[in-house]
Amino acid sequence: MSKALYRKWRPQSWDEVAGQGHITQTLRNAVMLDRVAHAYLFAGPRGTGKTTCARLVAKAVNCLDPDLKNRPCNECEHCKAITAGRFMDLIEIDAASNTSVDDIRDLRDKINFSPSQGRFKVYIIDEVHMLSTAAFNALLKTLEEPPAHAIFVLATTEIHKIPATVLSRCQRHEFRRIPLEIIVNHLKEKSAEEGLLVEEPVFTEIARQATGSLRDAISLLDQLTSTNEKITLEMAQAILGTATSLRVIEIVDALAAKDAAAGLEQIDQALDTGTDPRQLARQIVSYLRNVLLYQMGHLNQADIAEDLKPKIHAHASQLPLPELLKAINAFNQATMDEHANWHPGLGLELAFTEYLVRPAVPAESQARTEQAAASQPLVKAPLTQPKPKPEPVKKAEAPLPDAEPESAPQAGQAPDEPEVASPDTASPQDERPDQAEKTAPPAGAVSLSDIHKQWRKVKALVGKHNPRTEGLLNTSKLAGLKDNTLILGFSSDTLKQMMEKSGNLTLTCDILEEVFGQAIGVTCIVSTHQGGVLPEDIEIENDGMVGTATRDLGGKITDAKEAN
Ligand SMILES: Nc1ncnc2c1ncn2[C@@H]1O[C@H](COP(=O)(O)OP(=O)(O)O)[C@@H](O)[C@H]1O
Ligand SMILES: [Mg+2]
Ligand SMILES: [Zn+2]
Repeated sequence: MSKALYRKWRPQSWDEVAGQGHITQTLRNAVMLDRVAHAYLFAGPRGTGKTTCARLVAKAVNCLDPDLKNRPCNECEHCKAITAGRFMDLIEIDAASNTSVDDIRDLRDKINFSPSQGRFKVYIIDEVHMLSTAAFNALLKTLEEPPAHAIFVLATTEIHKIPATVLSRCQRHEFRRIPLEIIVNHLKEKSAEEGLLVEEPVFTEIARQATGSLRDAISLLDQLTSTNEKITLEMAQAILGTATSLRVIEIVDALAAKDAAAGLEQIDQALDTGTDPRQLARQIVSYLRNVLLYQMGHLNQADIAEDLKPKIHAHASQLPLPELLKAINAFNQATMDEHANWHPGLGLELAFTEYLVRPAVPAESQARTEQAAASQPLVKAPLTQPKPKPEPVKKAEAPLPDAEPESAPQAGQAPDEPEVASPDTASPQDERPDQAEKTAPPAGAVSLSDIHKQWRKVKALVGKHNPRTEGLLNTSKLAGLKDNTLILGFSSDTLKQMMEKSGNLTLTCDILEEVFGQAIGVTCIVSTHQGGVLPEDIEIENDGMVGTATRDLGGKITDAKEAN
C-alpha cells in the first residue's frame, strides 16, 4: 500500500507547518541568527507538529545553503539525506521503548564523538516523559554540559511528568491544538494537490472529529479516500459514525421534555438502523458537553456545526445545570457499558430512565437544605426542583480559543483497527462440542473460523490489488458463512453498496479462492444490532453478541434478518 498520507504530508519547511507560527518564527530566527539552543523541549498534544519541527531544526542547523534565511533549503545534500531518513547525525530515540538508564548512558558515551556528516549531532528524544528516573538523571548530566556539536530536542505529550531539573535546562515550546479552520484549510489545500475527490463539508466534519490533531485529521481523510470515489458528506458521516446528530438532538429533546416514550423510541430506532450504542452514547455526551460549555460561557463557537447552534442555544435554556450534569453522568456510564454485547440498547435505556427518575440536587438548594437542616432537622431536600431558567451566558458569543479542556470526551474516534475479531479470539469456540456437531463442515470444506484465521492475510492480498477494497473490508465484519458463501456485515447501507460496486466482490472472491484453494462466494448485508440470525444452516459468527447470548446466556436464535 502507498505511504500513509500523514507521513507523505510531513512539512519539510517552516512555512508548511500549520497553526504553530509562534514556534516556527522563534526557531527560524534562531537559525537565521545562528543562535540555536542546545536543548529544546517541545510539549503539546499528539499530532500537532512536535516531531515535524524537531526534524526541521535538525535539517536547518545542518543545511549547507550559504544564506541562513534559506535554511532548510531542501536541496542540499544534507537536507535531502534528512528527508530520506539517512542522515547519520540525526538520532531519533523513542523513549517509550528505550527507557533504561543504559540507553541514555550509551547515548552519553557516544555524544562526545564529533558529527560524522554534518555540523551538529541532533538527538530527538520522543515521549521523553517515559524515561525512568535513573535515565532522566543520566540525561540531565548530558544536558548540563552538552558538547558544542550536540543539540537535543525532547518531545512530550505530558509535560507535567518532566522533572523540573530537566525543564530548567531546555528552551520550552508549547504546541497548541490546531484550530478547526486551520485544519480545514490544510486538508483542503493538500487534497487539491493530491487530486483527492472530496466534497467541501467533509473537511469540516473531519476537522471536528480530530479535536485539534492534524495527524488525526489527515488519517481520517486517508481512511475515507481509500475508496477512491468522490467522498460525499453522507459517506463521510456514515464511515466516521457521525451521521446520527439529528438522532442525538431528538434524544436530548426528549430528555428536556422528560418524554420517556419518545426517548426510548429514538434509542430503539437508532439501534435498529445499525448505530453502535456506545458510539451513540458518546455522541450524546459530547453534545451535552457542548450545551454545558455553552451554559458556562465557555464554548468555542467555531467547533459547532452551524445548524447545531440554535439547538444548543435552546437546550442550554431548557436544561438547568443540575439536570444537565445528571444527564451527562448517566450517558457517560453508557459509553462504558460492558453489557453492550448482549443487550445493546440497555445502557442507553438505563441512562435515559435513570435521568428521568433520579432527582437532581442543585448545589445551591443542597446548601440551603443543609442550612435549614441545622435548625429544622425534619426538612428534606425536595425531590424535584423548580427549574431555574439559566440565561445563556453572554460571553459565549465570542469565540474563545483554547477553551477545550484537555480531557474532553471525544465523539467518534477514528476506528483504528478493523472490527473483525482477531483469529486467536475467534478460535477457541471451535472446540465446543455442541457447535462442532452442528456446524462441522464436511472434510475439506472451509469453515468460518478458517476464514477468521486467514482474514488479515486475505485483506492484505486484496489490498495489493486494490487498497480501497481492503479499506472497505476493514469496515466490515465476518457475519457468517452459508453454502460456501461468506457473509460480510456492514454497519450502513452506504458501505454495503460501495462494497457491491466496481469489482470489489470479484476481487475478494478471487483472493479467497487463492488462499483456500476453492471457490467461496461473498455476499453483503447490513448488520443490525439484533445481531442477525440466521436460519439453522448458517454458520454464525460466534464471537460477538450472538455468541455471548447463545453461549453464555443460554439464548436461542429465533429469527434472522438479512438485508438482501
Ligand atoms: N502543525 C502541523 N502542520 C502541518 N502538518 C502537521 C502539523 N502537525 C501535524 N501534522 C501532520 O501530522 C503528521 C504527524 O505530526 P508530528 O509532527 O509527528 O506530530 P507530533 O510529533 O506532535 O505527534 C505530520 O507528518 C503532518 O502530516
Ligand atoms: Mg511525535
Ligand atoms: Zn539544505
